[in-house]
Amino acid sequence: MPIITWDETYSVGVERIDAEHKRLIDMINRAYDAAETMDDEAVLSDLIDDMVEYATTHFSTESDLMKQHKYPGREEHLLEHSNFTAKAVISGTAEPSDEWRVNPIKIFQFLAEWLKNHILETDKELGAFLNEQGVK
Ligand SMILES: [Fe+2]
Ligand SMILES: [Fe+2]
Repeated sequence: MPIITWDETYSVGVERIDAEHKRLIDMINRAYDAAETMDDEAVLSDLIDDMVEYATTHFSTESDLMKQHKYPGREEHLLEHSNFTAKAVISGTAEPSDEWRVNPIKIFQFLAEWLKNHILETDKELGAFLNEQGVK
């Protein structure tokens, strides 16, 4: 079962950002499925690594766009991104005794909730600003 599903309410009005969000959501769902079945910890670990890597790519896209268009809220926006990355990295590197490692489901619930709130508030604000600058 997907933990988060993309629909039009998540659109920020910028094609490239939407496309990257769809892919990131897809990756979170795949890692979540692997965490739920927990058949193979190595598979889960790889899926988390891929997801963190892609999140980093996506955050760079937004960071570059913010820089390019002199977005006034860039610093605060980037701080939110580092929050996500820190949590996601912990999930991949935690010791077996660590609470996050013992219950990876919790991590994905956190990450999915984070992404949902971040897209609906922070990224939508950025999208509206970029639209005003003529970026679609
Ligand atoms: Fe963002
Ligand atoms: Fe985003």
